[in-house]
Amino acid sequence: MFDKRFRDRVTQQKQEGLHRNPPVIEKREGRFVTINGRRVLSFASNDYLGLGASTALAARVGKHFNASGAASASSSRLVAGNYDTICQAEKIFADYFGYDDALFFSSGYQANLALLSTLFENGDALIFDKHVHASSVKGMALSNATLKGYRHNCLAHLEKRLKPAPLGKRAVVTESLFSMDGDILPVEALGRLKEKYGFYGVVDEAHGFGVLGDKGRGIAKGVADVALGTFGKALGLFGAFVLLPHGVKEYLMNFASPFIYTTALPPAHALAAVDALELVEQGEDARKTLNHVSIAMHDTLTRQGFQVFGDAHILSILMGDEERAVRVSQALLSRGIFTLPARYPTVPLGKAILRLGMTALHRESDIHTLVNALKEVV
Ligand SMILES: Cc1ncc(COP(=O)(O)O)c(C=O)c1O
Repeated sequence: MFDKRFRDRVTQQKQEGLHRNPPVIEKREGRFVTINGRRVLSFASNDYLGLGASTALAARVGKHFNASGAASASSSRLVAGNYDTICQAEKIFADYFGYDDALFFSSGYQANLALLSTLFENGDALIFDKHVHASSVKGMALSNATLKGYRHNCLAHLEKRLKPAPLGKRAVVTESLFSMDGDILPVEALGRLKEKYGFYGVVDEAHGFGVLGDKGRGIAKGVADVALGTFGKALGLFGAFVLLPHGVKEYLMNFASPFIYTTALPPAHALAAVDALELVEQGEDARKTLNHVSIAMHDTLTRQGFQVFGDAHILSILMGDEERAVRVSQALLSRGIFTLPARYPTVPLGKAILRLGMTALHRESDIHTLVNALKEVV
């Protein structure tokens, strides 16, 4: 009975061009990955500063894990104890980003679930950008708050939603750099709405921290009472952190089920995270390179007639039809370029894209390699 349902759904997924079957990566070297024994140029990662591939970070991570044996935190912080190493690292993150406190999670998905399902409840209004990440959508759904979506990055629509929402019980949930559209939150305008209407701001800076703002501190501090960052993108590791005003860390540690009932990240990871942050702080050259290659890629694609979206290092090329997006991605792979299509439900139906994650490891020559291959394929 279950087997048949699972099989039928996968078959249907295939018929609709929505089937997921990501290629196996055999090896990674900088901006290249090996797939089926072939070394191909990748535009499919969120390793924006190249730290995930850097020997500098790998050496430090190795040192910390070697020094702490099997390294596991061995349970939740509420069960096995609250490692000083992790608490200290959280303090360093809070200070760097200008918040009172920080709390580490094993993933950004888990952190969004924890934040949104725990901070809000029945009687609150969560007003959210309709393009926020799946983890935010799930977290909001679990909160039992009233949910009101507004059109992506459309603050006029947000304002309409804000007016009738209950004062003191309304929060706005958005992202600083959207993970698929690649566009940037209009923070100043949002700040004006915050002044005018008052709301609790929750901003996911998963794709902004490390790259945008002064020394990678992001762009949304002025509107974000609470912010989320991940270690798995610009910081080159895995896991996530949330940045909090006074009192909220204690609240989450007491009431957030996704924090309480799971094994903490290893203490060695916390040391590695501090090292990654240090490299982010020193990453001015990488940020400049990333900015340069991202703009050059955007301009070149646009000049060649492609419909390109994205204000920074995430670029999306509109494919529309799901099957077409898959065919283009496969044809690019056969020409030595790895970039995966994003399809429904990650993006709306009929609006499939090729998502390019630009990194500081990319070179100008890579832009021409991609654009020439795309021209042939499309
Ligand atoms: C905007 C956004 N938030 C949260 C996450 C989840 O982060 P993680 O990969 O650490 O679970 C992602 C991940 O892809 C994301 O794009």
